[in-house]
Amino acid sequence: MQDVTITVLGAGYVGLTSAAIFAQSGFRVFVVEPNQKRLAVIKEGRSFFFEHGLDALVAKGIADGTLVPTDSYQQSVPESEYIFSCVGTPDNPDGSSNLTYVFDAAKTTLQYAKAGVVYIQKSTVPVGTGSKIEQLIADQGAGMAYVSNPEFLREGTALQDSLFFDRVVVGGHDPAAVRKVSDLYKKIVDHREAIAHISNIDVPAKTGHYIETKLNSAELIKVTANAFLALKISFANSIAKLADQTGADINEVMDAVGADPRIGRAFLNAGRGFGGGCFPKDVSGLISSAGDYGVDLSIMTAAADLNDSMPGYIAQKIHSSLGDLQDKRIAVLGLAFKAGTSDTRRSPGVALANILSRNGAEVTVYDPEALEEAEADLEEPIKRADSLEPAITGADAVLIATDWPEFLSYDLTDLAKLLKGKLFVDCMNAYDTQKVQVVGLTYMGVGR
Ligand code: UGA
Repeated sequence: MQDVTITVLGAGYVGLTSAAIFAQSGFRVFVVEPNQKRLAVIKEGRSFFFEHGLDALVAKGIADGTLVPTDSYQQSVPESEYIFSCVGTPDNPDGSSNLTYVFDAAKTTLQYAKAGVVYIQKSTVPVGTGSKIEQLIADQGAGMAYVSNPEFLREGTALQDSLFFDRVVVGGHDPAAVRKVSDLYKKIVDHREAIAHISNIDVPAKTGHYIETKLNSAELIKVTANAFLALKISFANSIAKLADQTGADINEVMDAVGADPRIGRAFLNAGRGFGGGCFPKDVSGLISSAGDYGVDLSIMTAAADLNDSMPGYIAQKIHSSLGDLQDKRIAVLGLAFKAGTSDTRRSPGVALANILSRNGAEVTVYDPEALEEAEADLEEPIKRADSLEPAITGADAVLIATDWPEFLSYDLTDLAKLLKGKLFVDCMNAYDTQKVQVVGLTYMGVGR
């Protein structure tokens, strides 16, 4: 199938991962990235963000000549049978989805696409967007099929999730186009062990589902999945606040509640709340798009508000323990919105550092991967440390805001010796409380 060419528009987490995988599945793949700095890094055979195993795959694609980075629609689109739109959908100040890049990508593609191509929307868009793009296609009299193919990969496990997927969802009005897109994924399945080997990732025994749906259903599946996971987290955090008042341990509660298979344990970890480039904006986008159709999703508004309250709630708990934060030295460990990524978008760790600093604490931050990306969002006079020890040495309190293995495996006796004070704030509820207490530290979790 090397004679089949794919263009992937946008080289973010979704776009670059998909492009690198297709480039090892028998296709020639253009990946279009307008940002020249990022493009230059990809051309060198690397990813411009940290994602386990991706560098090796990008390097292989570049060396093989099957992955072709470009900034040009004109070079890539006319040669392609399939166009994947993986451009960004940031949120507007009012919480609605900003679809400028989505529509620009579709319009520019329409200028160059040959007849018979399939345009595949991977960007997360509000339900109803595909129908508008189909109208654009019809207005131009272009012979292009439109398909929604939402992405479910998680940052940090992007390759694992893409190769060994739970489900591939493809929705559209043209059954032949829908089937063709499902078939592209079957080609990935044929190559996935070899790809996993290149990227040095595990090969689980897994058979994913192929789900073909109506166009609007596919669009709604994506945002609904993210909204439900966000809802689970906010639900766990609400109960954690109650656990704090009552002396219950939220981990014990959720372990038992989640043991009911109707509920499930996943995404019931209470802590500093969810961040990242997906949940916060997908929740606000869903609320806004429901509002456009006259539907009040107040259940999601409550989930978003609860999530926004978590960093302040933790800061308040620290204040209750340490008293006035003026001149207290606090180490915030973890700026990535979760472990395994350098992404700091809507990062609770960054929010915590800023709140504590605004309250007068002398804050030092450290993250093994995300210091550079956090830079723009960290307020003055927060200090940066380039390793763990200088961050915690002499601190009155240490906060674990991301569950990086480097933090979880750090010897607690050594940590206690380096600290001046005793307060250990586990914002991820990831530690055994007794192991923290036994070295003489005061454990503070969220709902524990
Ligand atoms: C999420 C979804 O999990 C993916 O399926 C989806 O494809 C992706 O969004 C997307 O729309 O692109 P991601 O944002 O990479 O993936 O990260 P998650 O692993 O879902 O974590 C999101 C946030 O929730 C993190 O800040 C994490 O720390 C937090 N979280 C997660 C909790 O606070 N508690 C939990 O129990 C689980």
